Amino acid sequence: MNTFEKGEAIRSTIQHLENEHQLIHEVLSKLKYAESAGLNNNIREMLLREFYKCIDFHFTSEENIMLIFDLEGYHEHKKEHDTLRYKLAELIGSFNTEEADLSELDVFTTNWLEEHNKNSDSKLAGRLKKKLH
Ligand SMILES: [Fe+2]
Ligand SMILES: [Fe+2]
Repeated sequence: MNTFEKGEAIRSTIQHLENEHQLIHEVLSKLKYAESAGLNNNIREMLLREFYKCIDFHFTSEENIMLIFDLEGYHEHKKEHDTLRYKLAELIGSFNTEEADLSELDVFTTNWLEEHNKNSDSKLAGRLKKKLH
């Protein structure tokens, strides 16, 4: 990758990661709506699956970016992502056996994402921008 291509790749990556953060919040809003409107378990399960895919895609994007551009902190960052992946997968599993309550997940996920974005994702973006110079 020459310097120009690398710069372009980094700039477009930064934009994509921001868009993905936005998308995660949109899907989370739908999930909150489904919960507050008391939509049936089937619909809520489908939304939770959409949310999981969206989260997993985004986390994998970030992890791959860290590998491609050789950014510091890959293992710690992936470990944090895996915590949320595990929690969501566990909740999806519970839909088979019970009427799952998503309100706890709303609070947990919103707080988790806020904290993760403020700390780990900001560091990632900072390290990525440094690679531009
Ligand atoms: Fe992240
Ligand atoms: Fe992120």
